[in-house]
Amino acid sequence: MSQSQGQGPALDNLLTESRTFPPSEDFAAQANAKPELYEEAKADREAFWAKQAERLHWDTKWSQVLDWSDAPFAKWFVGGKLNVAYNCVDRHVESGHGEQVAIHWEGEPGDSRAITYAELQREVSKAANALASLGVGAEDRVAIYMPMIPEAIFSMLACARLGAMHSVVFGGFSAEALRTRIEDSSCKLVITTDGQYRRGNPFPLKPAVDEAVANADCVEKVLVVKRTDSDVEWNDRDVWWHELVDSQSDQHTPEAFDSEHPLFILYTSGTTGKPKGILHTSGGYLTQASYTHHNVFDLKPETDVYWCTADIGWVTGHSYIVYGPLSNRVTQVVYEGTPNTPHEGRHWEIVQKYGVSIYYTAPTLIRTFMKWGADIPAKYDLSSLRVLGSVGEPINPEAWIWYRENVGGGKAPIVDTWWQTETGAIMISPLPGVVSTKPGSAQRPLPGIGAKVVNDEGVEVPAGGGGYLVLDEPWPSMLRGIWGDEERYRDTYWSRFADQGFYFAGDGAKYDDDGDIWLLGRVDDVMNVSGHRISTTEVESALVSHPTVAEAAVVGASDETTGQGIVAFVILRGGAGADAGGADAIKALRDHVAKEIGPIAKPRQIMVVPELPKTRSGKIMRRLLRDVAENRQVGDVTTLADSSVMDLISAGLQSGKSED
Ligand code: WT7
Repeated sequence: MSQSQGQGPALDNLLTESRTFPPSEDFAAQANAKPELYEEAKADREAFWAKQAERLHWDTKWSQVLDWSDAPFAKWFVGGKLNVAYNCVDRHVESGHGEQVAIHWEGEPGDSRAITYAELQREVSKAANALASLGVGAEDRVAIYMPMIPEAIFSMLACARLGAMHSVVFGGFSAEALRTRIEDSSCKLVITTDGQYRRGNPFPLKPAVDEAVANADCVEKVLVVKRTDSDVEWNDRDVWWHELVDSQSDQHTPEAFDSEHPLFILYTSGTTGKPKGILHTSGGYLTQASYTHHNVFDLKPETDVYWCTADIGWVTGHSYIVYGPLSNRVTQVVYEGTPNTPHEGRHWEIVQKYGVSIYYTAPTLIRTFMKWGADIPAKYDLSSLRVLGSVGEPINPEAWIWYRENVGGGKAPIVDTWWQTETGAIMISPLPGVVSTKPGSAQRPLPGIGAKVVNDEGVEVPAGGGGYLVLDEPWPSMLRGIWGDEERYRDTYWSRFADQGFYFAGDGAKYDDDGDIWLLGRVDDVMNVSGHRISTTEVESALVSHPTVAEAAVVGASDETTGQGIVAFVILRGGAGADAGGADAIKALRDHVAKEIGPIAKPRQIMVVPELPKTRSGKIMRRLLRDVAENRQVGDVTTLADSSVMDLISAGLQSGKSED
């Protein structure tokens, strides 16, 4: 394994970690998942998954659990029919739980709203009727570009109810990023808001939509929720949510769709500049999202209050705010804002207010809490917390222990969950009442899942060995392709280990002596910044689209808080002018990237260099640039076309630093 990115020395600490934390007897006794789950899945995988699928309501039962004859295109629960939204909403009302709170919504400015399942059913029905009145039907694509407000969830469920596909685009992405996503899957409708609250202030959101759809002929209507009451420019295609949706009937009969009916597209970064539209379908996806949420988080619908801090713009929000939890009749907190608005104890205040018992977040946020200080969570009553989760990147043992001590009261089990947009649901994680947890390790594939660490030849490595993470069995919530690009789907995931038929995840991994899996970061040119995937090529394309930039190379350098930080090396154009390397110009470049992709892709640092290190075939050697970015001794330069380049770079470095 050549180029696992960015974890650097943290990785060594990670691998010397040997503490384990067995579940308490009390926890184990009441846990949803018992040790037999592993045995059961091993004895008959398909029967096991069929049993999990039976946790859902099917209008027509399937005739075959898995059809893998057209690999790598799977069909799960073949012939079965269900409505995903019915499973997440209506059936809970029908079983007598209409008065149970589904969502405790907490707005950033301090407004709040409790939504029962009966109310959720009415809201989703109204939204579905409204969407249908705009001509949205089965398999149409709807873009959702919204902050974390209840209407965003109503919109997703309304699409699911109608069999339309949603494509949620994170509200922090730029107009340009939104435009390419809308056009790639030709969305008919865009749902958005006038503005959104961020760090205590309202910011406009609709102007980005206006810009994105200006020349997008596919878009017929833009449905706008009033959130901040900002002034908005109004176009012919625009419709106010409160005018259209509020007047609809709150009755809507859901139709059952095929198990393989498409549910959503979610774009994620790959190794090229073009994001991949990851396609998920209905029956298998919901089965695994529901099963994992029930067992990994040990959800008890009668007593738990669950909170996943993700945004619906990412897959975590899809699977662990919307589909998994609601299918399990969760009572959950949904929070609109940033964790330090109006103060750094906001999350703990919310935990205390609602008695949150299950809390699922990302390592980058845990490290931020560490920086803010343990005295902040200590001011609140967090005794309701009984399960903690982590996702998005490897969690360093130091952050894991801090999380356990300062948030989990030294006793709540921590589940480190490995999965991807493509896998749809959790794949590798300890089961909290069964497995003794280990700080820093996601440990083992869940019952029903096959995952292995293999070498270059696809042979499993022994205990203690490192290599690539592969998934060696199809799973229900696996992606069903990349929207409009079958070849890329085959190439990206299935060509690397084609002989063995393994899914290549793009992550480096290692077994420890107990055979537990430790994730080591991406092995491709994909960065992980605050748990978000950003491709180096995407940022490079954004940089070279600026008139002063001739060439750019981008690497992910390890970063104490965000996991990786984006570091860019740029060569300026000849005529760029004397000021082009100055602080203002660097700031302009960073802003340009934010405009092209979104603020999350803003480089932490931009260095102006006279040359880039390239191999004789012209490939940029990012490994050497990472050495520079992480202030390390530069490694082997013998394959460089011009070995003096690194000296030039090191010499010229100080000129272009920018770290605001
Ligand atoms: C990539 C997937 C899954 C939702 C959030 C990210 C990294 C994710 C872990 C973990 C180590 C992790 C991997 C993976 N990753 N969870 N628990 N330990 N690494 O979804 O944007 O599709 O990114 O995130 O590198 O491939 P995504």
